[in-house]
Formats: sequence, structure tokens, C-alpha cells
Amino acid sequence: MSTPDTASLLSATPQAVAAPLTRAAIFLVLKINSGPDALETIRDFCAELSAVVRAVEFRDLEAGLTCVLGIGSEAWDQLFGAPRPAELHPFREIRSGSRLAPATPGDLLLHIRAKRMDLCFELATQIMEKIGGAVTTADEVHGFRYFDDRDLLGFVDGTENPRGGEVTDAVFIDSEDPGFASGSYVIVQKYVHNMEAWNALPTEAQEKIIGRKKLSDIELDDSVKPTSAHSALTVIVENGEEKKILRDNMPFGRVGQGEFGTYFIGYCRTPRTIEQMLENMFIGRPPGNYDRLLDFSTALTGNLFFVPTTSFLDAVGEETAPAPQESLSPTVSTSNGSLNIGSLKGDLQRE
Ligand code: HEM
Repeated sequence: MSTPDTASLLSATPQAVAAPLTRAAIFLVLKINSGPDALETIRDFCAELSAVVRAVEFRDLEAGLTCVLGIGSEAWDQLFGAPRPAELHPFREIRSGSRLAPATPGDLLLHIRAKRMDLCFELATQIMEKIGGAVTTADEVHGFRYFDDRDLLGFVDGTENPRGGEVTDAVFIDSEDPGFASGSYVIVQKYVHNMEAWNALPTEAQEKIIGRKKLSDIELDDSVKPTSAHSALTVIVENGEEKKILRDNMPFGRVGQGEFGTYFIGYCRTPRTIEQMLENMFIGRPPGNYDRLLDFSTALTGNLFFVPTTSFLDAVGEETAPAPQESLSPTVSTSNGSLNIGSLKGDLQRE
């Protein structure tokens, strides 16, 4: 029995959400199989994850190997029960005209990144050795970095990501949900592109769809940039402040199958910001003024996950007891006086 003290919760270590962009990535979306054994396997794995990453990372410390584990809404209840992250819910499908952002199955996300694909592959293999019997793979994508950080449409992707201190502010939960401070939300969508139709467009037309120059990556002047441009509809300003998200999109594909895609991954301290961007893209701002990128790109998947801290994951499996109210700092105390991390064993079981 161990009780995390206030200091350790306040200094909770986030997962490697803010890791730098890498040359290779594997995205694994998994469904947890039915039954209590599968849930127990996943709980054990949560506590083991950082040790597994360290073991593979040590084979090349320069390669920047990281792994972020995200947990879906239903899976959270089954694995951990209450309390739950305030804004965790299933991905909300959006349908407008012929455009669809589907919600697809997925309980766990593994976002594995490194400079070398062999390290990503090794880590994914080691992880599946541990949990393969407890999960079914819903989707697996191996992404690669393309010339000049371009997507397969030929545009530099990631330019307007937050940098430096802006990253922390954009992606990590703070006092709005103190029991889950330093956690994040992540939304993933797998898009495939109609390259034939896209390549048939003149470069100027493509630039108006993205809102930036193709070769130089310079933003189009407001006088020529349409309000439907991708980089216009994804700018969210609230109370005079721009709401940023952290993206680490990756190209992927299978040339023999004619598959050319972008794996979208966006981290944020609240899912609302990314959901607002998706509404602007799919429905339009104002409605009807939608993102023309969607005339050439189709979303095949859609999932929302919560990314707990490494400290939380490391503590899974250890019994935790509510701490007395008086020992808590006001920023982490809750109405019931618990540390809001609760028993890490969920009450609910998947039937
Ligand atoms: C087919 C999938 C997508 C492709 C190929 C794509 C590509 C791009 C490109 C080329 C840029 C301009 C350079 C940059 O700032 O990164 C951009 C910007 C951006 N995209 Fe996407 N994107 C896709 C999906 C999404 C989705 C689904 C979202 C959010 C829900 C999103 C959010 C953003 C944001 C926030 C920016 C920066 C806007 C700014 O501040 O100027 N993108 N994207």
C-alpha cells in the first residue's frame, strides 16, 4: 500500500508528448479483448511501459526513442474507474454533405517515435509480446518523414506548431483538472489522399487550399488567402488568444496499392480545440465554407484518447489510499479530499 504525496502529484512527470519530431513513427490503435484477464494484463503493462521503453532506448540513446500511451474513454472506466479526466469522451463523428470524420474503434493508442524505424519496430514488437494476447489491433500505421518535412501532397507540414514554452501551455492540463495535471488529450485520424485529382490541380490552386506557398512554405497574404484555406480554418482564437495544438503528422503509404496518406495526430490540453478545428474543416466556418483539402483527402479513422502522466502509469497496480484533506495543497485537493488519483483498479469490468 503506498500513498502518493502531494509533492509527487504536483511534480508528476508527463509522458513524452512534447518529444521533437522524428524521422520514423509507428501508430498502433488497439482494442482491449473481453474479460478481466485482459484488463489485468493492460494494467500490469501500464506500470511496465517505462522500463520497456528504457530497455529498447538504451540500444541507441541518440535515436530519441519515445512512446506515448493514450487511453480511450470506455477503456478508462474499465481499467481505472473513477475519478476520470474531466473531458475524456469517445471521438465525436462529424458528418456534413459528403464529408465524414468517422469515429472508429480503439481503446489504446501507442505513438512510438524515433530517428530510426528499427527502434520503433523493436519497441512495438516488445510491447506486443507483453499485451498481444489481451488486445486486437484496430489499426497500425508506419509513418516516415518525407522531404523537407512535407506531407505527400507536397506541402511542409508542422510549421505553425507551438515552440519552446508555448508547447507546455498548449498541451498539458493545469489547474483546470488538478487531479490530472500534466496529462493531455490526443486525437488521431488516418487520411488517404486522391493523388491523381490533387496532382491535376495547378500549384496556385493547391496553395489556396492549404493557405501557404508550396515551395517556400510562406503563408499566403490575407488578401489572397481564402477563408476556406486549411490554415485559416484551423486557427482558433478565443478572447483574443490563439489556441494552439501540437501536431506530429506523418506520411505513410503503400505504392503498390495506390495508398498515399497522412496520419494526423494532435495533442492538446483540451479536446475542444481540436474538435473545433474539425468542425471548421468538415462543416465549415461559416457552415458550408469547408476545407477543400477534404475534396482530396478522406478520413478513415477517428479516435480520442487521454494521455496520463508517466507518474500515473508507473503507479498503476500499487494500491493507493485517499490522503487526509489537511495534507493537501489547495490546487490538488478535491471535494472528497482524495488526491484524485483514486484506486488505480477500476471497479467496472468488461463483460
Ligand atoms: C489530410 C490531413 C492533413 C494534412 C495533409 C494537413 C496539412 C497541413 C499543412 C500543410 C499545414 C501548413 C503548415 C503548418 O503550419 O503545419 C497545416 C496546418 C495546420 N493544420 Fe493541418 N493537415 C491535415 C489535417 C489537419 C487536422 C485534422 C487538423 C486539426 C483538427 C489540422 C490542424 C492544423 C493546424 C492547427 C495547422 C496550423 C494552422 C496555422 O496556425 O497556420 N490539420 N496542415
